[in-house]
Amino acid sequence: MSDAPAKHQPLVFSGMQPTNTLHLGNYLGALKNWVKLQDQMPCIYCVVDMHAITAVAYAKPDDLRTAVREVAAAYIAAGVDPKRSILFQQSAVPAHAELAWIFNCVARLGWMDRMTQFKEKTGKHKERASVGLYTYPTLMAADILVYKATHVPVGEDQKQHLELTRDVAQKFNNDYGAEDFFPLPEAVVLGTATRVMSLRDGSKKMSKSDDSDMSRINLTDDADMVAQKIRKARTDPNPLPDDEKGLEGRPEAENLINIFAALAGTPRSDVIARFAGQQFSGFKNELADLAVAEIAPIAEKMRRLLADPAELDRILADGAEQAAALAAPILRETKRLVGFHA
Ligand code: TYM
Repeated sequence: MSDAPAKHQPLVFSGMQPTNTLHLGNYLGALKNWVKLQDQMPCIYCVVDMHAITAVAYAKPDDLRTAVREVAAAYIAAGVDPKRSILFQQSAVPAHAELAWIFNCVARLGWMDRMTQFKEKTGKHKERASVGLYTYPTLMAADILVYKATHVPVGEDQKQHLELTRDVAQKFNNDYGAEDFFPLPEAVVLGTATRVMSLRDGSKKMSKSDDSDMSRINLTDDADMVAQKIRKARTDPNPLPDDEKGLEGRPEAENLINIFAALAGTPRSDVIARFAGQQFSGFKNELADLAVAEIAPIAEKMRRLLADPAELDRILADGAEQAAALAAPILRETKRLVGFHA
């Protein structure tokens, strides 16, 4: 992590979509790092419900409200401390949407056309995707820059969106003659599991939208379910490799070793050295123990938090008030630079 330019105070911003329950990829790729970063700088963590409706219309408004609470509960259960960090729901702070409009006019079509996530999500059916899904990355840029955040802890799949955020910041600063007005925030991609793959197919990302629940470990899975999913995780017929090179062309083995290393907090080379030449069964038993030890307490804490939705709503409302107060002067200055009513 390089130091942010002196002009901008170090500040973390990150978010997750409230679409289905969070999984081990969200946890190891991002959430676990969010918790650690709280010791290093001020942090703002958001439940991005405005992003969630780019892909799905919730049949009932309460479904989205419940999903928002679940994600907030997962943040807290994993160790985000609402007394130290700001935790809120995106749609409660309209400044995000206002800045996103300005950024829609800064970003170029060519930049958006390069976004691989949009292509992956829409496949051959681009014309049926919502316009919101297409402009998703400018809203994400607004999320970050409306606070002038400098560090954004995410999994590897978000790196391209962070590059776009930097391009938007740079072009805004140039176009409106405001050098250094917005910082150029950096993606903080930390750990050995920055891209956790499906347990059923090592070439696919572990994802909330995968049809098979066996492909992912949900943060709400109980101990038996976690162990079962790991035991049934796909592997190849060979024993575990002796060295890093032996992982080439073995995506399932590589994925399980990466998950092991991330959960154990040890380098991947140590895990390989320890299990070299062994069968997967023993390794999977130990991996299941590690995963259960880490996930089960989170699931348990989430259940307790979700039993008191009013308290979660209070935490989110309090966070939104703090977030809005930070965003207001930055948005006002941005609008003044553009020439809008401010
Ligand atoms: P989302 O909701 O898809 O995922 C939340 C976070 O989890 C990470 N992640 C993974 N990491 C490792 N392996 C995986 N299989 C895996 N799947 C997901 C993601 O990289 C992400 O960090 N666009 C964002 C949400 C967002 C945001 C923001 C993030 C909106 N505004 C501003 C940061 C800053 C997203 O869709 O994440």
